[in-house]
Amino acid sequence: MRVLVIGGGQNAEHEVSLASAAAVAGALRAGGHDVSEATISTEGVWRVPGQPDAATVVASLTAVLPLLGEVDVVFPAVHGPLGEDGALAAVCALAGVRVVGSGPRAGAIGMDKWATKLVARAAGIRIASGRVVDAAAIGDAEFDGPVVVKPVSAGSSYGVGLVRSEDELAAALREAARFDHRILVEEVVRGREIDVAVIREAGGVRWAAPPLEIETVGLFDTATKYDGSARFTVPAALTPVEHSTLTRAALTMFDALGCAGVARMDFFLTGDGPILNEVNTMPGLTAASQVPRMFAAAGVSYVDLVDRLVRAAEVPGR
Ligand SMILES: Nc1ncnc2c1ncn2[C@@H]1O[C@H](COP(=O)(O)OP(=O)(O)O)[C@@H](O)[C@H]1O
Ligand SMILES: [Mg+2]
Repeated sequence: MRVLVIGGGQNAEHEVSLASAAAVAGALRAGGHDVSEATISTEGVWRVPGQPDAATVVASLTAVLPLLGEVDVVFPAVHGPLGEDGALAAVCALAGVRVVGSGPRAGAIGMDKWATKLVARAAGIRIASGRVVDAAAIGDAEFDGPVVVKPVSAGSSYGVGLVRSEDELAAALREAARFDHRILVEEVVRGREIDVAVIREAGGVRWAAPPLEIETVGLFDTATKYDGSARFTVPAALTPVEHSTLTRAALTMFDALGCAGVARMDFFLTGDGPILNEVNTMPGLTAASQVPRMFAAAGVSYVDLVDRLVRAAEVPGR
């Protein structure tokens, strides 16, 4: 198939998205697909290899739109706001082009950690208690015990902080506010961190890969995510009950949001069972990222995984 892989993007995860896109493009080529690439700069300028740079964001978008008509599928390997949040899926929906991954609605809700929690709770999945503070109200926020502070909409742990005492609260809120004016203030959950990946294949069958455990000391922060110091164990050592509770919760979330392609549901596994932390509708996709590692444990190679995703792609809303 002719596949346009999009990387980069206008948020803090730009570099991570470039890495995911490069890996996806390589694996698609290895699988025999005809791959073209586009990148979005942090300012929003689209660039296509071999084409002159456009002078403005709008001119670059105008130049890239015809490419949508020349491919069978778009693979938007762009994490974070204005990518994973459904913005790129929406462009494809408007153009009537098949796109890998979730449509605009699931992407938008999954990118909003507060909305995701509301859906999870309604679906009977446990979540950490929390509240939303607006950046304009940081001065009024009161400390009522240790909390985790994070942007409602971000990723790669940017702006995530642990607040242990009152004097740390304002600085943590200000740091989170660099990424989103809505800030989530959550109870601190103690538990193992277990990720579950769910894929929806062509034809609509969904299934969960063997869960993965992340072993870190303290928060799984940005440095730990990319300096190689976190240890992934896959399959995670789980009892049969833990395994089925986690995978059932992941499938419930996938269906409740109406996800497509692949999504990664991240849980804390506590003594009382799983608590959903967040949902990633365009999770990290280098060969070393969690999702490809989990599918490898299920016997699905990286080349096979991206091939399945491309074959499962649909026009959102159709
Ligand atoms: N409520 C919480 N209690 C304990 N640790 C948390 C909590 N929320 C986040 N963390 C830690 O911070 C990390 C990053 O937070 P997360 O919500 O997953 O943000 P991101 O979307 O940037 O990955 C998590 O992997 C976990 O280690
Ligand atoms: Mg996370």
